[in-house]
Parts: sequence; structure tokens; C-alpha cells
Amino acid sequence: MHNENSLYYRDGQLFMDGVSLNAIAERVETPFYCYSSAAITAQIADCQSAFQKLGASIHYAVKANSNLSVLRLMADAGLGADIVSVGELQRALAAGIQPSRIIFSGVGKRRSELLAALQAGIFQFNVESLPELQQLADLCRQQGCTAGVSVRVNPEVDAATHRHITTAIKGSKFGVPLEQLETALDLIVQSEALALHGLAIHLGSQIVDVAPYRKACRRLRNLLNDLRQKGYVITHLDLGGGFGIDYGEGRYLDFHRVADTFHQELQELNVKIAIEPGRSLVGSAGVLVSEVVYRKEVEPLPLLILDAGMNDLMRPALYQAEHRVMPLVESGRPVETCGVVGPICETTDRFLQRTDLPAIQAGERVALLQVGAYGAVMASAYNSRDMIPEVMVSQNRYRLIRRRIPQSDLMAYEMDG
Ligand code: LLP
Repeated sequence: MHNENSLYYRDGQLFMDGVSLNAIAERVETPFYCYSSAAITAQIADCQSAFQKLGASIHYAVKANSNLSVLRLMADAGLGADIVSVGELQRALAAGIQPSRIIFSGVGKRRSELLAALQAGIFQFNVESLPELQQLADLCRQQGCTAGVSVRVNPEVDAATHRHITTAIKGSKFGVPLEQLETALDLIVQSEALALHGLAIHLGSQIVDVAPYRKACRRLRNLLNDLRQKGYVITHLDLGGGFGIDYGEGRYLDFHRVADTFHQELQELNVKIAIEPGRSLVGSAGVLVSEVVYRKEVEPLPLLILDAGMNDLMRPALYQAEHRVMPLVESGRPVETCGVVGPICETTDRFLQRTDLPAIQAGERVALLQVGAYGAVMASAYNSRDMIPEVMVSQNRYRLIRRRIPQSDLMAYEMDG
């Protein structure tokens, strides 16, 4: 697993599975995202085999990569989806994901979004506040339907990840605070329109240690025992996502370790477990292929200026994330220390402040690694740049799975005059 084995040099060219990335770049203008379907299906299979012994249901967090062709791989493997908007609902359904396997998360679901999800007949709403619960109950009464509900609770466990992607600490905007949990459960029990499933948590993202999960499981176990004693019927636990991938430091969370932890901590509870992995299913399966526009000889380090920018891949600018770079051609040139930046007029448009690479010249191409999750989905058209294409490699073939959205199309939405 964690499959850099889908990337390798053959005859000096960087390949993804059976296709040379330079061969794609001859046909698809850089920059573009490129995913390995084999790497994604391998991650899905690994996740399924790990969580099978728990009988857990897997709901892919669509936000990580919502391209229809990626979602189709999830649907074909029988996965459900964790969605956070009506747009994600539309995508999941269009890709063939069963409504009975869809969970709707998010702190600000609008009335129209709740309604669309009710009409689609989704499996569960993870409700994050008392007013949302009230809104859902009202809507169900008006529509004459029922909704399956879990309460996302804030377990107050620090996931020890980047501060921008930790979600379960006290005072966070996510989840129902522990002190309001019973009020929420009472609302559900008293409403004929709502069917109580159980509790949900999500600790954060890119978590590389099982310790926060273990701690959260123990809290949930105590909470659940306590609630059951008080008479609440809790049948489901949704443990969220957050399983970290290896961005090059060798630290990541193995699905089997997480599953074993859940099993050890929760096995006597007799509940149906759900998980919502996003990044871990797709993150390592994607690269961003980009051309070096200029090589700028400056102090203290030479800079490679790419045609990809922070608008195409926001993670470095937002979270100081580092995505390693590989040249598309193995040149054998001596290694030098350089910086890697984009063309955008912002200081934060920098991919790597300092990295060691065989000397790369203008006009040559590179791949930024592990960008399959939270890459294309977070892109913008800032600086009036095109939205870049996405490509899927399947064995020794590739196909465009999203065309470039050119400036002319973006301008066509504007009223000039
Ligand atoms: N479930 C819920 C309720 C979530 O909020 C998230 C992610 C997931 C599941 C999936 O988490 P994952 O398995 O992908 O870690 N843009 C950031 C990550 C934001 C994650 C937001 N929530 C990044 O690029 O690192």
C-alpha cells in the first residue's frame, strides 16, 4: 500500500502505472492532475479488508476528490459517501453511489440542502447543532417523511495535527458540545419524524497516530454506556475519517492499525460502525504535472518557477504542506538545492522553500506528489487562470476525466455592460 509503486522510472522517463507522464504532457497541456485508478482501487481494497472484521460501512468523504470518475471507482467498489453539500449529493448520485449509503455531514446545511437529501432518501444526517435538528424535524413533518439521524458530538480530543485541520477541541465550531448532547437526543426521541441512529465524531485530518482515536473511542464507550443506562437506544457509531498518508516523512496511519484499535476499544458495544475516509483513499494516487517556466538564478537558492500555482494546489499556502517533486526525466545531473514556486503574485505561492533535486532546466517538467486529495477540489481561477484538467491512468491507458475550463468559459458567465 501507500503506493509510490505506481510511480517509477522506465528508460529514464517517469511512469504512472503503464503510462509515461511526459507522453501525457505531449497531449494534455500542463499543468494537470493525474491519478492512478490502480492506486485508488488498491487503497479501497486495503481499507475494505481492514474494516471487514468490524463489519464497518465505509463512506468515502467526497470532498477529498469529487471527480465523477473517482467517485465511480468508489461506487463500483460498493462504498457509500460522506457528503457536505447538495453539490456533493448530486455528484455521488450521478456516479452511482446508493442513497442508502450516503451520510450528510456539515455544520451549515441549508434548508434546501436538507430537503434535497430527504427527497433523495439518504441513509443518515449527521446533525451538528440544536437548531439544525429542529430545522430537520420541521422539514420532515412538512414533507411527511422520516430521517435517520446521528448526533455529531465534539469529544474534545486533540488530534495533534495541523491546527487548521483539527476539529474536535473544545470551542470548535464542529459537533454538538457534550453538555448539549442529551437535549439533542431528547429532541430526536420526541420527534416522530426523526429516527435516532447514534453518535458521530470526526477528530481532524492527516492524523498519523492511533492515540487520538483510542482516546476518542474510550470517551465514546463511556458516553454510550451512560446514555444506554439512561434509556437511549444507540445502534450506530460513525467514527469519521482523518487517517493520515505518507507525504514523505514515513508517518501515516495504516488502515489495519486503526481497525484494530476500533475493534479493541468498541467490540463489546454491539453497534454498527461507520467510517468516512477521504484523503487515505485517494491522496497518494495523484500527481500534479507541471512545466518549469523559468529557472531564476537568485540568492540564496536558484528558483524553479512552475506553470502550476497556489490556485491549482492550495495545500502548501494554506497548511504549509510540502509535496515532494520528481522530475519527469531521470537526467543523472548532479543534485542541487533549489526552491520551487508558482507564478502567482503572492508570497505564499511557494511549493517548496528548499529541496534537493537533480538540476532542472526551463522547459522541463516535474510531478508534485501525493496531491490526489484536496488538490483539484480546492483549486480556484485566481489571477484569471484556467481551471486545469484532470487525467486518469488505467494500466497502460489514460483518459481526460475533466477538461480544462478556459478563461473564455469563465468569462461567459459574466455580464459585460
Ligand atoms: N468526515 C468529515 C466530517 C470531515 O470533515 C472530513 C474532512 C472527513 C470525513 C475526511 O477526512 P480525511 O479522511 O480526508 O482526512 N483541506 C485539508 C483537509 C480538510 C479536511 C476536512 N474534513 C487538507 O488539504 O489537508
